[in-house]
Amino acid sequence: MRRAVCPGSYDPPTNGHLDILERAAGLFDEVVVAVLVNKSKKGLFTVEERIELLAESVAHLPNVRIDSWHGLLVDYCRQNDIQAIVKGLRAVSDFDYELQMAQMNQQLTGVETLFMPTKPENSFLSSSLIKEVATYGGNVAHLLPATVHRRLLDRLSRDK
Ligand code: PNS
Repeated sequence: MRRAVCPGSYDPPTNGHLDILERAAGLFDEVVVAVLVNKSKKGLFTVEERIELLAESVAHLPNVRIDSWHGLLVDYCRQNDIQAIVKGLRAVSDFDYELQMAQMNQQLTGVETLFMPTKPENSFLSSSLIKEVATYGGNVAHLLPATVHRRLLDRLSRDK
């Protein structure tokens, strides 16, 4: 079984994430989307909410499942028999940090990281930027799965 993980904060999942998940699902027998808990980032959505949003967004992909993890990604990979980490790369600016993490992870347990270039139409997308634009009333409907967009607007109007 060739199994990969796509780790991230997913706060919230965007069309850019979805593109990578769909393409990874075509390359591996199973893809696990792991919502990583990052203590230094205060999330808009709880981890449980992100899992729900992801589950709705990947419902059409039978070999993709969602999970969450608090700790080192390499430990998650080892415990779940995952051989590869798949990361989307948007621009050269992502590369430095991603390369460093890939090399650290490879050195820790031998797990490999595969970089997948985002589609050009998604290369400017980030969850943080989408949240900022939506907070000030900008239109982000075309940048997110429809259910995520609805939940984002609900959450922002609740938190006003
Ligand atoms: O969506 P993000 O916030 O860019 O994802 C970054 C993430 C969560 C994939 C990265 O911070 C991570 O792998 N965290 C898990 C903790 C860990 O293993 N840290 C050491 C990395 S070498």
